[in-house]
Amino acid sequence: MTNKYKYFVANWKMFGDIKTVNSIYTVIKASKSRNFSKAKIIYCPPYTLLNTFVNKLKKTKVEVGAQNCHQSSSNGPFTGFINSKMIKKLGCKYVIIGHSESRNSGDTNILINKKIKSSLENSLTVIFCIGETFKEKKKNKTKKILINQIKKGLKNIKNIKNIIIAYEPVWSIGTGLVPKNEELLNNILFIKKFLRKNFNYKKTRVLYGGSVSPYNIKNLNEINQIDGFLIGGASQNSNKFIDIIKKSFN
Ligand code: 13P
Repeated sequence: MTNKYKYFVANWKMFGDIKTVNSIYTVIKASKSRNFSKAKIIYCPPYTLLNTFVNKLKKTKVEVGAQNCHQSSSNGPFTGFINSKMIKKLGCKYVIIGHSESRNSGDTNILINKKIKSSLENSLTVIFCIGETFKEKKKNKTKKILINQIKKGLKNIKNIKNIIIAYEPVWSIGTGLVPKNEELLNNILFIKKFLRKNFNYKKTRVLYGGSVSPYNIKNLNEINQIDGFLIGGASQNSNKFIDIIKKSFN
């Protein structure tokens, strides 16, 4: 159990509508309580709800991020896309880049690197997702995959102060499976050490994502090195989301 400052990032993926936004009022209320004073809560809804979230969360300490962006910093003829400049202008502070679901839809390491650069140029904090598949884990390739994703994703980026890493083993996403604490600690430490050595920055925050729920959160919080959580399914249910945050500080 810990009492340090932690991130709770709600990734709503391709879920939610105007009506469901109202359900977050309990989270806004809870965020004002003393229990939550060390919780940094960030909602990443689909693009269609970003503006609604930004307006609803004005004057609260809950923040907003997008789930992806186009790689071009400037506007242009890119039908169906939104860039980091637009996201920033809307009032968002964060953007998720490199989520495995975005990688599955065509985001290569090279594209991810461009997206990260354009997001940093537009003063967004990047939540950069990395993680191995089950097959890669079974072949003992986890560390190799993590290094490759970090090296290529952060290529030619000198200052990583505005980057938060989200370690999300692909096999944990939406499956109910969570790595054993020892394995998770090992991978988180590995990521932190690698960043310290290669980017000369000691303070990178590393979040864990993958089937985080009110049932496993106490156990996950045993790992002191985790700086917060990227939460999918459970974050769409305000009661579960609040429960996760509460249990992280009790
Ligand atoms: P779940 O919490 O639904 O497993 O999703 C994790 C995730 O992908 C968050 O980005």
